[in-house]
Amino acid sequence: MSGNLTESSNPPLGEGTGTAAPVPDTASTARAATAADPAIRGSADINMAPDLPKEKVQLQGVEQTLLPMVLFKARDTLSPNPILGDQWAKPLLDQCDIDMDASHFKFTTDPRYVTWIANRSKRLDQWTQEFLDSHEEPVTVLHLACGLDCRYFRVNKPSNVRWIELDQPLVVDLRKRLIMQPPGDYTLRTLSVTDDGWFRDIPADRPTIIVAEGLVMYLEQEKGEKLIRDLVDYFKGPNGQGQCQLVFDTLGTLSVRLTSYIKALRTSKSVFKWGIDEPQQIERLHPQLKMRDRILWREFMDSHPPFFGKYGTLAASVMPSFEKNIQFWRFEF
Ligand SMILES: C[S@@+](CC[C@H](N)C(=O)[O-])C[C@H]1O[C@@H](n2cnc3c(N)ncnc32)[C@H](O)[C@@H]1O
Repeated sequence: MSGNLTESSNPPLGEGTGTAAPVPDTASTARAATAADPAIRGSADINMAPDLPKEKVQLQGVEQTLLPMVLFKARDTLSPNPILGDQWAKPLLDQCDIDMDASHFKFTTDPRYVTWIANRSKRLDQWTQEFLDSHEEPVTVLHLACGLDCRYFRVNKPSNVRWIELDQPLVVDLRKRLIMQPPGDYTLRTLSVTDDGWFRDIPADRPTIIVAEGLVMYLEQEKGEKLIRDLVDYFKGPNGQGQCQLVFDTLGTLSVRLTSYIKALRTSKSVFKWGIDEPQQIERLHPQLKMRDRILWREFMDSHPPFFGKYGTLAASVMPSFEKNIQFWRFEF
């Protein structure tokens, strides 16, 4: 089944993602958009039923974790009081041929997940917007592990922004099939952020904001630390500290310790590997990194999502690290 999402529906997304060999970069097949075109293939109107054939979704491993994110954003938009109000999420889902009945999406009906993810995207949007608004000179936005996220369309950008987003091969292929290539200085790259020196052909000539939503918890700590150290070292530029920013979200050491209990991860067989509780874990990676903002989950939601099951989450809540289990961060460098 690949039905459309409605507010009252049961979990509408599912496994059905199959397996496939990595596909080559299909830049030449990307759909070109003009200012008048809708961003999403088929419809830019969230209420319009799409009439195009649905796209087969083939993702592997951790790539599959992006699907619930789109679903959460669509649920948020359809709720009476949206937090993020992303108008692209539901049309995107409607374009996907996915088994909506599979069990690993059952957890997505819990509104606490919607609250978490909608707040996460909203906060990273706000910080991205503030960065864009605070520079008169041209800037670069480097959006790591973009998945099917539509931050590019949600924020107001100056026409001279250089926007680069990236993800792994099957994700980029799907994104190109579903989302129009925006006009202007926009690039969608196929790579792993753990590839050595992947950023070295990007000019480090502008203030740069690096956005990483829902990524670092899936990286080996050593590789994640190297990524941040290398990016800061490369983009920090000659103008001194404070010109560039890194905004991202983390899960805590608690989630890493209890990752095997998290049902939502089982289908993709992904695990949380890098837990971050304290800002020093990031600041110590490079002398120029300074924390500017830290937001704990209690500041944007009343109740933690039941990551570890109902009773496991209750038991985990007595641990001191529970308070730091979901955080959003803004660092300057
Ligand atoms: C939870 S999803 C988040 C997607 C998107 N940022 C969002 O918030 O909707 C995790 C994303 O990280 C990507 N990812 C994981 N490891 C990666 C790596 N080493 N390099 C590039 N992307 C990676 C996955 O392919 C997936 O799109």
